[in-house]
Amino acid sequence: MSRSNYYQYHVFFCTNQRPAGESCCENQGALDMRNYAKKRIKELQLHKNNQVRINTAGCLNRCGEGPVIVIYPEDIWYTWIDKEDIDEIIDEHLCHGRVVERLRVLP
Ligand code: FES
Repeated sequence: MSRSNYYQYHVFFCTNQRPAGESCCENQGALDMRNYAKKRIKELQLHKNNQVRINTAGCLNRCGEGPVIVIYPEDIWYTWIDKEDIDEIIDEHLCHGRVVERLRVLP
């Protein structure tokens, strides 16, 4: 496969925890969900050959719209509620290159 990016898809999960009472992604279980996504990517063998990389990020400064993830190189932002949402992003976006419009957080 020929491409210009090191990873085909590079996914960042904000897992930031802000002080009690403030909106943040970790208040909604972001680290657990990042771990779940990483496990699913391995199960699907998408971690091989630099196809998909899941990374933890600090605050992405969209706290009130979170929890948020961002996928590069397209710079597509998503929010999620549960594992089904993450599964849909993996199946649609990361496996088939189709944007999941219902979960998008627009610029
Ligand atoms: S805490 Fe996640 S965007 Fe700020």
